[in-house]
Amino acid sequence: MNPALQTPLTQMLGCRYPIVQTAMGWVADAKLVVATTNAGGFGFVAAATMSTDTLRREIAAVRAACSGRFGVNFHMFQPNAREVIELVLDNADRVRAVSYGRGPDARTIQRFKDAGVLCMPTVGALKHAIKAVELGADIITVQGGEGGGHTGSVPTTLLLPQVLDAVKVPVVAAGGFHSGRGLAGALAYGAAGIAMGTRFLMTAESPVPRATLEKYIAVKEPAQIRASTAVDGMPQRMIDNPFLLRLESGGLLHRLCVALASAWRWRAHTGMSLAHMAKTFVGALREGDSAIQTMMAANAPVLIQRAMVEGRPDEGVLPSGQVAAVIDSLPAVAELIGSIISEAEQRLAALGALSPAPSAASARGEQGRADSLPLPLAGEG
Ligand SMILES: Cc1cc2nc3c(=O)[nH]c(=O)nc-3n(C[C@H](O)[C@H](O)[C@H](O)COP(=O)(O)O)c2cc1C
Repeated sequence: MNPALQTPLTQMLGCRYPIVQTAMGWVADAKLVVATTNAGGFGFVAAATMSTDTLRREIAAVRAACSGRFGVNFHMFQPNAREVIELVLDNADRVRAVSYGRGPDARTIQRFKDAGVLCMPTVGALKHAIKAVELGADIITVQGGEGGGHTGSVPTTLLLPQVLDAVKVPVVAAGGFHSGRGLAGALAYGAAGIAMGTRFLMTAESPVPRATLEKYIAVKEPAQIRASTAVDGMPQRMIDNPFLLRLESGGLLHRLCVALASAWRWRAHTGMSLAHMAKTFVGALREGDSAIQTMMAANAPVLIQRAMVEGRPDEGVLPSGQVAAVIDSLPAVAELIGSIISEAEQRLAALGALSPAPSAASARGEQGRADSLPLPLAGEG
């Protein structure tokens, strides 16, 4: 294997290849994580949409089905965040990393680190990367604006070098990746690997029902995969569908009805007590959120569930990276990872062949952040 594919990420996570399967609510379950782990990548279980019992079962299923280590994704605003943290710590012999957006405080991060669990937040802006490292992040995943789900506005080609220049920890590139070219390109930028969501959603092991996957296969225009704030007030990238268009064009009353129905259903799913719901509501109001936005918070998990679990793509929303527009297959995860690695090796070899002579560092076989390697790049970005 090309030595450039052995990076600080593979060393820290203990996986064969620098490829991460990111967390996707309702999608990244034990089966997807096991397939990723067995194929040499590193997978995250998406706990942000799971009850504590479901997460306990999913962790047990991964533990039973493979010997590799894996990750768990959660958010501090989910009602069972504290229980998720304890569950991760109880399984620290196998859970190698946690990922999160709005993350835990420095004390909780220290608890993870003391237990040998790496903290690997996903950020969509430079200032968030700097803050995350100050709080103790071991690895940063940078998600460019083209990425799926909640996303920022800065494209990967701009955000990645900005963050690489600003932090010392390994950086993983996300947002728009699906191929070996992308992996080779990310390594050339200086990233320690790539992380992909949408590409893993569109695999044979994905739990997403066929009717919904067809919508992902059918979309061919990146412009039809837009970031919209209509679901929960925060920019989220989704495939255009009639439901989203109605939500966007509907009046306040329509939005309020959808938000109320979602909040009620989410309360039942999470087992949240009415008291907890009221506390969350009051807390959010104090932080300055508007009441409607607070209620809209439950929209995302509930409306995504309709498409991703119930197979009713026209009655819910379809979070996706723009990359879905260039994907037209549902390969097995092992086939996908194998083809990404072999294409990356070809690209790296082609770049190597352009070099007049090996640098002193590469002749000594030294490895470090790949941004110190003098790879000639034509037409970068
Ligand atoms: C269907 C879907 C659900 C997602 N759910 C989550 C989630 O629960 N937690 C999270 O941190 N990120 C979530 N994301 C973002 C992904 O983890 C990842 O960062 C993003 O998909 C990367 O961009 P890409 O799709 O271009 O590969 C989701 C993305 C998608 C497409």
